[in-house]
Amino acid sequence: MNFQILPSLLAADLGRLADELKRAEASGADAIHIDIMDPHFVPNMSFGPSIVDFCRRTCPGFYRHVHLMLSRPDLYLEKFAAAGAQTIQVHIESDCDLHVELRRIRALGAKPALVINPETPVEILAPYLGEAEEVLVMTVHPGYGGQKFIAECLPKITWLRERCPGLDIMIDGGGNAETIPLCAKAGANQFVAGSYLFGQSDMRAAVADLRAKLRCCKA
Ligand code: DX5
Ligand code: ZN
Repeated sequence: MNFQILPSLLAADLGRLADELKRAEASGADAIHIDIMDPHFVPNMSFGPSIVDFCRRTCPGFYRHVHLMLSRPDLYLEKFAAAGAQTIQVHIESDCDLHVELRRIRALGAKPALVINPETPVEILAPYLGEAEEVLVMTVHPGYGGQKFIAECLPKITWLRERCPGLDIMIDGGGNAETIPLCAKAGANQFVAGSYLFGQSDMRAAVADLRAKLRCCKA
């Protein structure tokens, strides 16, 4: 299973967004993680579809993962797909029929992914596991970067990996050189890190260090 490292754009210096995005791509990271929030679903707001288009225009070859923290993601799927989202992640806690929406994401040409919040029991994902190509296990409460990793989420990763050997399992929240190896040992293979990676003066060295640590986690 391939390990992937994804800087989260939420932690970038927005005054230098193009340079920050180029820095993330040049770091050797696999993709950019783009957090989209509405203030009904989380106590914050962030970006809209135009930021995804900005990423596509600035770094066309840098894969775009779009994390929709929206109560009604179904109303915006076309807009994000048209803006260049390549993976679209929708929350199991959102208010729409996810069987339908995961199919729509695929029909729009993007990779369909589900996301689960820390307080939501993992078993709720069972009916969707044949339909999502990736599951993102939140390891903080969504809404803000820079929060502390919630280790109690690790058993969810193991539960998923035992049932779905080929599934991409991502973690998001509090990812750093200590917590990411713990997630890999539990069975995750994709790792978001926002404040940790954008806070580095040498992001490339930090990504290389993470990859070296992950190599030690390979079974
Ligand atoms: C939180 C977002 C995360 C956030 C992670 O709602 O989904 O992607 O940017 O930031 P760090 O890595 O700083 O916890
Ligand atoms: Zn995210």
